Amino acid sequence: MDLASYIESKRDAHLEELKDFLRIQSVSAKSEHKPDIEKAARWVAEKLRGAGVEKVEIVPTKMHPLVYGESLRAPGKPTILFYGHYDVQPAEPLDLWTTPAFEPTVRDNNLFGRGTADDKGQVHIHIKALEALLKTSGKLPINVKVMIEGEEEVGSVSLWDFVKANRQRLQADALVVSDTSMLARGVPSITYGLRGLNYYQIELTGAAQDLHSGVFGGAAPNPITILAETIAKLHDANFRVAIPGFYQDVAPLSKAERKALNSLPWKEKEFRKTVGSPGLCGEKGFTVVERLWARPTLELNGIWGGYTGEGAKTVIPSKAYAKFSTRLVPNQNPEKIAAKVERQIRKLLPKTVQCKFEVLSMGKPWVAPYSHPIFQKAIRALEAGFGKRAVFIREGGSIPFVTQMHDTFNVPCVLMGFGLPDENAHAPDEHLSLENYFGGIRSVARFYEDLASV
Ligand code: BES
Ligand code: MN
Ligand code: MN
Repeated sequence: MDLASYIESKRDAHLEELKDFLRIQSVSAKSEHKPDIEKAARWVAEKLRGAGVEKVEIVPTKMHPLVYGESLRAPGKPTILFYGHYDVQPAEPLDLWTTPAFEPTVRDNNLFGRGTADDKGQVHIHIKALEALLKTSGKLPINVKVMIEGEEEVGSVSLWDFVKANRQRLQADALVVSDTSMLARGVPSITYGLRGLNYYQIELTGAAQDLHSGVFGGAAPNPITILAETIAKLHDANFRVAIPGFYQDVAPLSKAERKALNSLPWKEKEFRKTVGSPGLCGEKGFTVVERLWARPTLELNGIWGGYTGEGAKTVIPSKAYAKFSTRLVPNQNPEKIAAKVERQIRKLLPKTVQCKFEVLSMGKPWVAPYSHPIFQKAIRALEAGFGKRAVFIREGGSIPFVTQMHDTFNVPCVLMGFGLPDENAHAPDEHLSLENYFGGIRSVARFYEDLASV
């Protein structure tokens, strides 16, 4: 049977198998899911073996295991390193899911469930593409190294130790990743840029303990008020980040790239619909696409403190907290940015509170040229899978591993994403379009096959 017919004949089986993967609650952020994380790692290892990746190991790390496998039986043919993650974001708030997060369900030609788009569904696409090649031609046409980690959603903490210890072994001609999105439905896309991410937490302490707001209000400092005032000063009226030097190293878009990005088949109307807010905001002087992909931002992710339970409690809290992050673009340096952010916050704070400032994670931005011939093969493969010519896009999200790998090995990184921007990654009702899932398997199988023909 030829490759395309084989894949077509396995539609139902593939989908059922993906559902099994999705039922495993591999939430990396929560220790109660440790057994599920381990189960997911074993599941991936077993399926990789079934797809012809013969040397598969589950590598224990300080946190969650990493699945690493190799099949190096195509001498003279290229070697790719495929990277993905089997861990998922927490599913909460559970009551906002139409059907339960870990009971995958098909509705309107979409598969719903945590991890469908990010990233289990996309990892499964590659496993099934490899398997299809093995089953139709008896062997894998190229050399593959596969790395599926379990800590991506918590910052890929342990990954780097493994890479450093296995530099030689991880050498490849190209890195292949499917953990991004298409520009829009029916528009296969190759991502050549991601933003970097620094994540921070601050804790402000005023009084030594909570105080009665009638007895002390008016004289004792309120850390929540101070936190709110401080945060409000981090943007100016034009929505620029008001931290001295924040934009200092930002690489401006070239005229040509600006033109290319703004003429993509991207519809602001669709984007507004996906966001669903009464209006949009953003840095003055830039289009929405530029704001999302090529400009750095500062975002509040959570703020808490004081009394938030039922009814009223008159209290001046001792502490107030915020979690926030900065998305970075070339050529901003994460360490330098973290130092500038901390300096400015400390400068803004009055002497009446103490501040504990933590940087929870740092990650560099990534943008790379796509002139290497492998990108032409990627375009052809996506065309075979989707019947449309692929476009080159940048995205606002972050995959720390891609930058690190690119810096370390300096090989082309092919990011073929099969998600869609409105598929609710990290949110309730996450889903994956079945059209993209099956088109993804066809494209990736074709891509790997084509890589063998030099
Ligand atoms: N798959 C996403 C990254 C992504 C999303 C890339 C959308 C392009 C478009 C990844 O799983 C993710 O969520 N990354 C985190 C960073 C990580 C350090 C927790 C992110 O971007 O917030
Ligand atoms: Mn992901
Ligand atoms: Mn994610």
